[in-house]
Amino acid sequence: MCKGYFALVVVAAYVLPLSLAAQAPSLAIQVDHPTANVSPMLYGLMTEEINFSYDGGLYPELVRDRAIGRGWGALEHWTLAARGNSIAKVSIDEGTGPSAALPRSIKVSVSAATDAAPAGVQNDGYWGIAVRPQTSYAGSFYAKTYSTGAPADSSSSAGWSAGVPVTVSLVNDETGVTAATATVGGLTGEWKQYSFTLKTGQAPESSNNHLILTIPRPATVWLDLVSLFPPTYHDRPFGNRIDLMEKLAAMHPKFLRLPGGNYLEGDHIAERFEWKKTIGPWIDRPTHPSPWRYRSSDGMGLLEFLEWCEDLKIEPVLAVYAGYSMAQEHVEPGPALEPYVQDALDEIEYATGGADTKWGAERAKNGHAAPFPLHYVEIGNEDEFDRSGSYDGRYAQYYKAIKQRYPNLQVIATAPVKSVKPDVLDEHFYMPAEQSFSDASHYDKADRNGPKIFVGEWATREGEPTPNLEAALGDAAWMTGMERNSDLVIMASYAPLFVNVNPGGMQWATDLIGYNALTSYGSPSYWAQVLFGSYLGTEVVASTLTNGGPRVYTSVTRDEKSHKLFIKVVNASSEAAPLSIALSGVASVGPEAKLITLSGKTPNATNTIANPRAIVPVEQTIQVVGPKFVQRFAPYSINVLELSY
Ligand code: AHR
Repeated sequence: MCKGYFALVVVAAYVLPLSLAAQAPSLAIQVDHPTANVSPMLYGLMTEEINFSYDGGLYPELVRDRAIGRGWGALEHWTLAARGNSIAKVSIDEGTGPSAALPRSIKVSVSAATDAAPAGVQNDGYWGIAVRPQTSYAGSFYAKTYSTGAPADSSSSAGWSAGVPVTVSLVNDETGVTAATATVGGLTGEWKQYSFTLKTGQAPESSNNHLILTIPRPATVWLDLVSLFPPTYHDRPFGNRIDLMEKLAAMHPKFLRLPGGNYLEGDHIAERFEWKKTIGPWIDRPTHPSPWRYRSSDGMGLLEFLEWCEDLKIEPVLAVYAGYSMAQEHVEPGPALEPYVQDALDEIEYATGGADTKWGAERAKNGHAAPFPLHYVEIGNEDEFDRSGSYDGRYAQYYKAIKQRYPNLQVIATAPVKSVKPDVLDEHFYMPAEQSFSDASHYDKADRNGPKIFVGEWATREGEPTPNLEAALGDAAWMTGMERNSDLVIMASYAPLFVNVNPGGMQWATDLIGYNALTSYGSPSYWAQVLFGSYLGTEVVASTLTNGGPRVYTSVTRDEKSHKLFIKVVNASSEAAPLSIALSGVASVGPEAKLITLSGKTPNATNTIANPRAIVPVEQTIQVVGPKFVQRFAPYSINVLELSY
């Protein structure tokens, strides 16, 4: 739990007058009567490239469109930068790129430039580039120029191109002040990677900056893979954005479902998440179109996903492509599907194999010798949308191949199947608040003989770009149901996780965490996740809510080792709920308890990038005088009452 968010207040819970006890709303808790184990994996994260989640979000590359991959349209975020009387032209050049994977590059033809009036190209970042004082940024680019003789470009002069230096600077859009600059010398006729560091001094914190690369004399240069990285979480080279990782860590997640979602499937088979094209040096990653209407740099490739898990000390839930893409394209089960199944086996080996295996060795070559832990593999995503009916056969083929080689892996299905019994079934729920409330007991009477359930995507969808308090109340009501039934619902992950709140950043409304280039905030729903993840418990205990009213939801768990009881009460009504709480089966309780409350004045209350902490949890200490007491729960509130027993 993030420190510093909680006001600490000491109040007394009051003893219930016996005359009122009969009609009062009450919660009877049999502390010594566990009904089920709480799944230790219950809450996790679901992720995909949507809403600029990685590029422009968690993957903190500051240069937008750093690689000009095949199929990218016109240059959008790269524009001419010409100072004084300099003259230059910027274009995409076909067939001159630095690698087979990246056959295109940015051509900068400078026909007039001097030290005082240089020319080149600039990049506007992801809705700006964040600059902070006293900060080091790690940069690099690939470049080449003409080596000898007269260049084909008549405007450049022979002998000038070779050895031309490139100056890279971070410049404020409004003031024109340079926050940091570095010069890299001597381009040659061959593609080569150049590295530099930009170190800011007293530059004020701001997001309205751009990166500019200039040369001081006439020449033609080609550029690609221009990159600039800020400091990262745990200082991992090319790791994740610090503020966003801190927010994820505060949720106490247990797993990361990766890499999607629709992003795994792609609109077309050729646009699926082809993991083998996302590993190794950036220069070998061709980039690919995502179904969310923009291309992915694939900087967040398979190894980066796994390292993200490692940084949070959580497990991957590895979703493998399963032969279905969203434009109703599928691969027939049988021989045609075999290469895809093999790809999935290779992917599992890449994640888990020793360095003595083919793909484990490849992972070691990519910089991570140790295998990653893996217990769950998911076959596809939302395959009920495949109208061909091929999922049964496809799932069975993957299931058999994976079980044969990795008998201990749990194989998750994304739609009901008949030919084999899946270990786990992934069910998705995107709901208006009323449905989250009315369906909060969805799993109370569910069949316990079928597969275990993974609620791999779910959310109450009220408010955008991030959910409001009404959504958080709906989420919390729904979570009480998952928690009560976590013998069956073994895992759950809210989706989507991230949204860049800038205009054009959002493709899917109602996302847990919002951000721009500089800052981020958690929605009320985010805080509901933090509360439920932080006070999970190990066992569900028997409890009965009587006269709770139509919008009150509860779930009670205990931690058998620490002897803590966690009473979760969601009061989604506009009136306060004074609840008579009666604990049985305990020798003693209290005398102090912790009450953490997330609440607001109206269901529409929310957090925004400009007002990020309007709705945050508040912590109080309350005195508990015995096993029977009344606790008042505020209108529109999500509460965790933690008691020692
Ligand atoms: O979370 C957004 C999308 O919703 C996911 O990509 C997809 O699996 C679901 O339909």
